[in-house]
Amino acid sequence: MYEGQQLRTVQQHILQEQTRFPGATGEFSWLLSGITLAAKMIQSKVRRAGLTDLLGSMDQTNVQGEVQQKLDVYSNEALMHCLSLRQSIGILASEENERPITVNFKSPSAKYAVIFDPLDGSSNIDVNVSVGTTFSILRRPEGEDSTDVEKWVLQPGATQVAAGYVVYGSSTILVYSVGNGVHGFTLEPGVGAFLLSHESIKMPSQGTYYSTNEGYVNQMPAPYPEFIQDLRQGKLGRPYSARYIGSMVADFHRTLLKGGIFLYPPTEAQSSGKLRLLYEANPIAFIAEQAGGIATDGNQRILDIQPTTIHQRTPLVVGSQVEMQAFANAVPAMAESVN
Ligand code: AHG
Ligand code: MN
Ligand code: MN
Repeated sequence: MYEGQQLRTVQQHILQEQTRFPGATGEFSWLLSGITLAAKMIQSKVRRAGLTDLLGSMDQTNVQGEVQQKLDVYSNEALMHCLSLRQSIGILASEENERPITVNFKSPSAKYAVIFDPLDGSSNIDVNVSVGTTFSILRRPEGEDSTDVEKWVLQPGATQVAAGYVVYGSSTILVYSVGNGVHGFTLEPGVGAFLLSHESIKMPSQGTYYSTNEGYVNQMPAPYPEFIQDLRQGKLGRPYSARYIGSMVADFHRTLLKGGIFLYPPTEAQSSGKLRLLYEANPIAFIAEQAGGIATDGNQRILDIQPTTIHQRTPLVVGSQVEMQAFANAVPAMAESVN
């Protein structure tokens, strides 16, 4: 199957990327290998979801007030377990935990915080639709802030040292960036290794799909409804088709590969939208920008937002250059963050 092709595993790739970090000691690749191990554990449970007793909710609500699915809990535990043994990690923060968890926080070797959504789109599990995991890696701040858990976690997305996601779809793919382009690795299930399948991903400058929950269109503020109508009516040179999975990671992954635009706007019910800044919007925005795309909250670049709370929500509009420029033109206050 791979005859004549040079196989590259994610581990090999990370080791190579790591040489870009001054004084790198291998800790960073060890950290990322914790994420890839957890991803394999999660995908293995996701693949068995219909066969085991994992379906259905646990009748327990998380800090967002949403009912936790059993796989949410399992995925959170898998990541916590695989990452908490890494000496370079000081803080783990998750959608599923109200407060950040300090692990090797006091040790001087603890250099990184990892913030994640262990299972994104989990309501789709019951109906066999793609779900994912998102992660964001931040470095311990310098100076007197270095022992302040809040300061460590509440950094703008532009300071991320690495970010990425996994999609548990028709295959399992891990996409990550350390600020040197975006690379995708598909899990070879027979071998259990993530193999480089998408090198230096670049988002097309224009796509043919828009992706939003159009059921909320009457609750969206201007100019979202008008902009969506423009896309449908061909104002960007072609009439757009709609695609909406309801798993942000999967909707974004399509947008990354095919181009287009994904929007989760503010609505009447949720004035800051639904998605979480630190572990959903930030890693997606980091990947989008690294691939040549743009991500905004409608007012400013996602990666420039100074977070104030760990679970804060943000509107998210992310996509290709052409669609994002058109969106910026529809929101005059935004032109600055896109240009
Ligand atoms: P999670 O499963 O982590 O709570 O995230 C679900 C999110 C996101 O994946 C998706 O884009 C969005 O919910 C869909 O929300 P709507 O049903 O409101 O469109
Ligand atoms: Mn999510
Ligand atoms: Mn989740």
